[in-house]
Order: sequence, then structure tokens, then C-alpha cells
Amino acid sequence: MPRGKIQRILVTGSSGQIGTELVVELRERYGSDNVIASDLRPEQEGNEGGPFEQTDVRDAERLREIIRRHDVDTVVHMAAILSAKGEREPLLAWDVNVRGLLNTLELARELKLTQVLCPSSIAVFGEGCPTENTPQETVLKPATMYGVTKVAGELLCDYYARRFGVDARGLRYPGIVSSEALPGGGTTDYAVEIFYKAIEDGRYTCFLREDTRLPMMYMPDCIKATIQLMEADADGLRHHGDFNVASMSFTPEELANAIRRHLPDFEITYEPDYRQEIAESWPSSIDDSAAREEWGWEPNYDLDAMAADMLEKLRARHEAGALYK
Ligand code: NAD
Ligand code: SER
Repeated sequence: MPRGKIQRILVTGSSGQIGTELVVELRERYGSDNVIASDLRPEQEGNEGGPFEQTDVRDAERLREIIRRHDVDTVVHMAAILSAKGEREPLLAWDVNVRGLLNTLELARELKLTQVLCPSSIAVFGEGCPTENTPQETVLKPATMYGVTKVAGELLCDYYARRFGVDARGLRYPGIVSSEALPGGGTTDYAVEIFYKAIEDGRYTCFLREDTRLPMMYMPDCIKATIQLMEADADGLRHHGDFNVASMSFTPEELANAIRRHLPDFEITYEPDYRQEIAESWPSSIDDSAAREEWGWEPNYDLDAMAADMLEKLRARHEAGALYK
């Protein structure tokens, strides 16, 4: 089936942690009017520079109408319920994550869209897979409903690619650390909250144990990986919806030590809650050689570079009286 070039992009979940920054970058590259932001929630402040449609991704009719009216050829599907919220509301997580993606893939097939990109997650891994340097191809037995929906999403992307020729792509993000929008209910959220509390109060109570090592990534690398995969030549891709991507792994204690290199008096205490069990079901590091080989993935940030940049940005906002946007 012939596919065109990426020209007009719909970003679902655009008011979320990743969507907020991705829309800004995509508008820089493709032009403001060519990137349509959309979310169940109202438009994210700062993203008013282009079209926005408030909608529920479970509503296929409305999605079709938006795609047609804006002449969209590519959907970057960020709308989702993340791991911690998903364990509290598992049926909602299934409904939004699987129904929303299925609607998108069906519309891509019907309207012959150029591409659908839907992120997956390290949450696809669980019992039975190696926890260090977890390979691309391994057992996928997630312990959370979020992980179950992400495995289903990868399989749906692969199915629509194989069966219908839909160019469906996805990457397994690690926990994402960012300064512009707060995270939306995941297990790795501590790694963002800690920076806000370090700046605001000089102390933080972490909901994971100090030695819980997880794969993480700084937002500029997340945006870079996403756009690099979107723009990769389809002929070079042997995988579709399930690329491992990695940049760094750290524990809460190591993150606190990185913050202390800038704020020596920073204090951290630990009160693990239900999210500890979720974190323990995930790998501590992942092998991303397929992404490196197939589309040239390479991260820019390590722990210290990320901590320095986060603290500089949040400190400037705090001094301007606008730490929380
Ligand atoms: P987020 O929770 O910050 O944002 C998700 C957005 O989806 C929210 O703005 C929410 O309002 C919207 N949404 C929820 N239900 C909706 C519905 N029914 N219709 C339309 N919009 C709806 O999540 P995020 O961190 O920006 O994640 C984006 C994608 O990346 C998700 O697929 C997520 O699973 C994946 N991911 C994120 C991380 C991370 O650490 N942030 C890690 C791995 C994978
Ligand atoms: N950061 C995400 C979460 O914690 C992983 O997909 O849910």
C-alpha cells in the first residue's frame, strides 16, 4: 500500500507529560498549523500556538471527524492511563489504552494514513525475563494492567502492520524525567517529583525504596527518540511497535546523591507504597541494540547532565514564582 510523507500530525494525549513537550518540538519542525494537539483535558498552557481538539480517544467517530477535517496523515498516540493509576482503575486502563489505540489503528487502515506511532513501555516486562540488560525479544508477562495493555498495544501495532500494511511504530520508553509538565500517574513519577521538592522544600519522601534501580530517560532524549523513529526510513525497520530504548538507570539514592552535588543539604526519606511492587516487576536496565542498529538511536544525557539541567530550569522558575506551571 503506498504511503505518503508525514505532513499533518495529530497528537493525542497532548496535555500530558510527554505530549506537552512533543507538540512544541513537532510544531517547530512541521509548522504550527500542521500539528493538531488533542486531549480529554483542556489545552496545556503554553501549547496554544496551534490547533487543539478536546476529545476522548475512545470515541472513534469524533477521531475520524478530526482526522478528516484537519487532513491528518500521521497520528502520534500519547493518550493513556499509566501504571500507578492503572492499578487503581484497571478497567479504565484497558478501555483507554486498548480501545483508544484500536480506534487509531482502524482509522489508519480505513483512511490510509501515513503512520501511527504509539509508545510502549518497560512495563511490558515482568516475570521470567532477565532483569539486567533485558533483551528486545524476551518473555512478556507483565504484572500490571498497564503492562498488559502495552503488550496488547505492541501486538496490535505488529498485527496492523503485517495484516493491513499500516506503518505502525512504537518504542518502549523507560521512566521519563521532565521539567515542563508533571507526570500523570506512573511508578517512575518520583524521579520528577524529587526535583520539585528539592527546590521547594529541600527534602523529599520517596514512595520507592532507596535501592530500586529502574531504566530512565531525560525528556530531550525521549523527544529525540520519538521523532527519530517517526522519521526513520521504513525499509530499514525490522521491528514495528516494540523498540527497546535506553539511556540511563539509577536508584532513588543515586538520584538523591546527584541532586546533593548541587544542593548539599537535600534530604530524602523513604516510605515505599504499592508502587514498590510495580517497580520490582520491571527490569533495572534494557538492551536497545535493535533501536541503535535499525534507526541510529543514541542518547545524549546521563544522570549528572540531567540533574544539572533539571535543577537549573526549576530553580529559575522558582525564583520567578512559577515553579508549578
Ligand atoms: P500522561 O499521563 O502524562 O498523559 C497522558 C494524557 O492522556 C493525559 O493528558 C490525559 O488527559 C490523556 N488521556 C487520558 N485518557 C484519555 C482519553 N480517554 N482520551 C484522550 N486523552 C486521554 O502520560 P505521558 O507520560 O505523557 O505518556 C504518554 C505515552 O507514553 C503513554 O502511552 C505512556 O504509556 C507512554 N510512556 C510514558 C512513560 C513516562 O515515564 N512518562 C514511560 C513509558 C511509556
Ligand atoms: N513511567 C511509566 C510508569 O511509571 C512507565 O511506563 O507508568
